[in-house]
Amino acid sequence: MIIREFQTIDLIRVYEIEKETFSNSYEKNMLQWLYDIGTGFLVAEDKNLIVGYIIFSFKNENQGHIISIAVSKEFRNQNVGSALLKTAINVLKSFDANVVCLEVESSKNMAISFYSKLGFKKKNLLENYYEDGSNGVSMYLEL
Ligand SMILES: CC(C)(COP(=O)(O)OP(=O)(O)OC[C@H]1O[C@@H](n2cnc3c(N)ncnc32)[C@H](O)[C@@H]1OP(=O)(O)O)[C@@H](O)C(=O)NCCC(=O)NCCS
Repeated sequence: MIIREFQTIDLIRVYEIEKETFSNSYEKNMLQWLYDIGTGFLVAEDKNLIVGYIIFSFKNENQGHIISIAVSKEFRNQNVGSALLKTAINVLKSFDANVVCLEVESSKNMAISFYSKLGFKKKNLLENYYEDGSNGVSMYLEL
């Protein structure tokens, strides 16, 4: 498996994973737009198949932000997500980020333990954070 930068040719497959993963998925145009405006966008490729992706950004206050991460169902729990997140963290480090932040649905215990395993700590409960009224939790990793 390799981690590499997103290319437009990956869009259909990335969108497929996005749709199978999130009920409030981004539209295809939005994914392409995020890439076009310079947002960090990496994919994991295994035997010519895109199996996961991560989207992240860097703010001037030396702060990185994880916007989205997803791994295709049949490839989960095989370290793909960890490889994507670690690579994004290294890119953010190279931009002199000193902290990486993210928000996750507070009911997504699996995702929270995934981030915790990589050193993220819980910060605040975000009440009513999502469109459907569900709560979020903010997490951060000091670099
Ligand atoms: C969250 C996600 C990106 C993790 O990617 P992944 O490739 O499955 O994760 P990894 O294999 O790298 O797992 C790393 C750690 O995460 C935790 N983890 C992963 N899958 C888990 C599961 N099903 N149950 C509990 N913990 C789990 C474990 O601590 C694991 O470490 P271990 O293998 O030493 O036990 C992926 O499961 C996914 O796409 N989930 C749906 C989308 C989502 O929730 N995105 C994040 C919120 S926006």
